[in-house]
Amino acid sequence: MPRVVCLPGDGIGPEVMAEAVRVLQALGIGFEEHPFGGAAIDGWAKPLPETTLEACRGADAVLVGAVGGPQWDGAAIRPEQGLIRLRKELDVYANLRPAVGDGVDLVIVRELVGGLYYGGSGRLDDGRVFDTCVYTQPEVERVARRAFELARTRRGKLISVDKANVLETSRLWRQVVTDLGREYADVELKHGLVDSVAMWLVMHPGEFDVLVMENTFGDILSDVAAGVTGGLGLAASASLGESGPGIFEPVHGSAPDIAGTRKANPAGMLRSLALALEHGLGEPALARALEAAVDKALEQAPTPDVGGTATTSDFGDVVLASLEVAVR
Ligand code: NAD
Ligand code: IPM
Ligand code: MN
Repeated sequence: MPRVVCLPGDGIGPEVMAEAVRVLQALGIGFEEHPFGGAAIDGWAKPLPETTLEACRGADAVLVGAVGGPQWDGAAIRPEQGLIRLRKELDVYANLRPAVGDGVDLVIVRELVGGLYYGGSGRLDDGRVFDTCVYTQPEVERVARRAFELARTRRGKLISVDKANVLETSRLWRQVVTDLGREYADVELKHGLVDSVAMWLVMHPGEFDVLVMENTFGDILSDVAAGVTGGLGLAASASLGESGPGIFEPVHGSAPDIAGTRKANPAGMLRSLALALEHGLGEPALARALEAAVDKALEQAPTPDVGGTATTSDFGDVVLASLEVAVR
């Protein structure tokens, strides 16, 4: 049984995944690749073939590159549906999205398997079109608990983000987080409205420690957090459930504008692999070594998005070389 299932996907997904595969090989960790996203629609008529899903269920960790692209936009079956379904099937409700940079060290905990992405949606005969945001008390509590636990291991500050001045689901969210906060008296809990938190993230990102929020807000604010710490090429994520395999994927998408140009920054993918080593494979020391190797590559072989001229594989070369020194 391979320990890691790799789902390269589309656009720059396979390009950044290739660098992660080199690291897995160097570390002697067994892996298997499976079709996913647009690539799976083309070959198997669905973005998440059953064989892919079964392989993911049996793995210790699932690595995802990225899915989507203009060639599949507008069709009834979309690559993104595969990702949305995979997250739900594995019930990885807590999506950790760290953002680290000049004076900034924060983690967004994004609820990943509820809310607007999973509520009823459709088109009515009278022309109305709808998506619904639905949450239950237990769905909010379990992800909030993760965020409190995480804050406890860090600087002990948690901000819960909502739109409680307008949305009913946000009023539930705020109530559940407030109630749970009584169990975590050692964590300083604050609540913020998503619009002003977005502004504070841009103006004062260094003031945040852990943030917790529902799915759609987390999607948007995690790109903002990536933006204020060097861009999407750098941002990693870990999606965790209770006991099954987690999903580890960069925050960025398939970047059709640079796919095939060798410009893709593999840092977000490799940092996601580091999160997989830590949270999925029980290898925290290897995770630290890989993170250090990525930091070194960012200094010695930066890709164009971070001001350099290195290619994706140049970056990987530096990572591999410093990893080999570290684990020898
Ligand atoms: P994107 O993240 O793909 O790209 C946004 C911008 O960031 C682009 O200019 C791109 O070149 C740049 N960028 C992203 N990753 C980079 C990297 N590793 N190195 C250098 N530059 C990088 O977002 P988009 O353009 O809005 O979406 C493109 C497609 O990706 C869409 O089909 C969308 O649905 C999909 N998408 C997939 C995921 C995922 O698979 N997890 C995430 C986001 C978007
Ligand atoms: C992300 C992406 C996905 C999301 C899309 C591709 C479904 O934007 O992982 O941030 O919205 O969750
Ligand atoms: Mn996103």
